[in-house]
Amino acid sequence: MNSKFILLSIALLMPIYLAQNVSIEKLLAYNKWSSQNLRTFLSEEEKLFRQLVFFENLQKVKDHNSQDHHTYSLDINQFSDMTEEEFAEKVLMKSHVVDLHIQQATSNNSTSTASSNSASNNAIITVDWRTKGALTAVKNQGQCGSCWTFSAAALMESFNFIKNKNLTDFSEQQLVDCVNSANGYSSNGCNGGWPESCLDYSSKFGITTLKSYPYVGVQKKCNITGTNNGFKPKSWKQIPNTSKDLQNALNFSPVSVIVDASTWSHYSSGVYNGCNQTNIQLNHAVVAVGYDSLGNWIVRNSWSTAWGEQGYIRLAPNNTCGILSYNYQITA
Ligand SMILES: *[C@@H]1O[C@H](CO)[C@@H](O)[C@H](O)[C@H]1NC(C)=O
Ligand SMILES: *[C@@H]1O[C@H](CO)[C@@H](O)[C@H](O)[C@H]1NC(C)=O
Ligand SMILES: *[C@@H]1O[C@H](CO)[C@@H](O)[C@H](O)[C@H]1NC(C)=O
Ligand SMILES: *[C@@H]1O[C@H](CO)[C@@H](O)[C@H](O)[C@H]1NC(C)=O
Ligand SMILES: *[C@@H]1O[C@H](CO)[C@@H](O)[C@H](O)[C@H]1NC(C)=O
Ligand SMILES: *[C@@H]1O[C@H](CO)[C@@H](O)[C@H](O)[C@H]1NC(C)=O
Ligand SMILES: *[C@@H]1O[C@H](CO)[C@@H](O)[C@H](O)[C@H]1NC(C)=O
Ligand SMILES: *[C@@H]1O[C@H](CO)[C@@H](O)[C@H](O)[C@H]1NC(C)=O
Repeated sequence: MNSKFILLSIALLMPIYLAQNVSIEKLLAYNKWSSQNLRTFLSEEEKLFRQLVFFENLQKVKDHNSQDHHTYSLDINQFSDMTEEEFAEKVLMKSHVVDLHIQQATSNNSTSTASSNSASNNAIITVDWRTKGALTAVKNQGQCGSCWTFSAAALMESFNFIKNKNLTDFSEQQLVDCVNSANGYSSNGCNGGWPESCLDYSSKFGITTLKSYPYVGVQKKCNITGTNNGFKPKSWKQIPNTSKDLQNALNFSPVSVIVDASTWSHYSSGVYNGCNQTNIQLNHAVVAVGYDSLGNWIVRNSWSTAWGEQGYIRLAPNNTCGILSYNYQITA
C-alpha cells in the first residue's frame, strides 16, 4: 500500500469519518479490505454507504470477539460491505419457499417419510471425510442463491470418490442451468432450489465435470451437449431428523443438509451456536462431512476458503441451525 495514498484519502475523508466516529484504525482496516475485495460503485454515495456498512460490521466483529464467553469468533470477509438483509437477499434462499417445499415433499411421501433408526446406533466416535481425501477444494457460489447446486455437486463428488475412487470436480453450473422447470423441476437457478432435484436430474442426464461446464454464477441456457455420459447417482434417501441418524449416515458418506445461515456471514472459527433456535429459518444448503468426539457437526460451505475454517464451519451438537431438518444422502 502506498502510504501517501492512504494519508491523502484520510485527509479527504476525515470530516465525514469524524462525524461517524470512525477511528484511523478502522479506516486502515477498510483500506486493507477494499484492496482485497474489489468493488465498483454506481456513485460516490453508494461508495460511502458501503464504507459505513463495513464500519458497522467491523464494530460487530470487534464487539463479539472482545467478549470471552463465545465458543466461536468472527472476522471481516467478502460479505463485510453488505447489510444482513442484503446478505440474505443475495446469498441465501427464501426460507418460506424452503419451508413450503419441505412441507410438500414430506406430505407427498407420507408413507415413505424417513423414520428414525436411532435404536441401531453403529456410529463410531468421530468422522471427518476431509481426512479421507473425499472432498474437492471448497468452492465459491458468489452472489447467486445456487447453494443447492454446490451441496448436490459436493455430495456426488464425494460419493463418486467413495465408490469409484475418483475425486473429480463436478459442474454446479450445469445444475444451475438445467435443473429447471423445462426439465420438470421446481428449482430456480440463482433464486434457490433443491439438492434432491439435482440428484434426480443427474440420475437421468448425468453430471459433467466442472472443467467442461465451468461456473459463471448466473443462470444461462442449459447446454447439455455431450454430457449425457457424466456421473449418475442411482439412488438416494432422506435421513431421519435425529442426531443419531445423521451420525449413522455420516459413517457411510457426506450428507446434504439444509440450515439456517442467516447469522453466518462473519463466522471465522470455533464451534458455532449463534442461530436463533426458537426461530429457525431454513435458507441454505450445505454438506455435513463429519462430527467430532463432542458431537459438533463439521460442515462444508460454498463461500470460498476465505470464509470460516478454510471454508468449513463447526456447528454445536443436536439441531443447531436446523441441521437435522431435511437431509439427503446418496446410497448407490
Ligand atoms: C466515539 O468513540 C469514542 C472512543 O471509542 C467514545 O468514547 C465516544 O463516546 C464516541 N462518540 C460518539 C459520539 O459516539
Ligand atoms: C407434491 O405434489 C404436488 C401435487 O402432486 C406437486 O405439485 C408438487 O410439486 C409436489 N412437491 C414435491 C416437493 O414433490
Ligand atoms: C417421493 O417419493 C417418490 C416416489 O416414491 C420419489 O420419486 C421422490 O423422489 C420422493 N421425493 C422426496 C422428496 O423424497
Ligand atoms: C476420473 O473421472 C474423470 C471424469 O469422469 C475422468 O476424466 C478421469 O479420467 C477419471 N480418472 C481416473 C483415474 O479414472
Ligand atoms: C455448449 O457446450 C459445448 C461443449 O462444452 C461448447 O462447445 C459450446 O460452446 C457450449 N455452447 C454454449 C452456447 O455455451
Ligand atoms: C429469536 O426468535 C424469537 C421468535 O421470533 C424472538 O422472539 C427472539 O427475540 C429472537 N431472539 C434473538 C436473540 O434474536
Ligand atoms: C445434545 O447433544 C448432547 C451431546 O451429543 C447430548 O448429550 C444431549 O442430550 C443433546 N441434547 C438434546 C436436547 O438433544
Ligand atoms: C422430525 O420429524 C418428525 C416426523 O418424522 C416431525 O414430527 C418432527 O417435528 C421433526 N422434528 C424436528 C426437530 O424437525
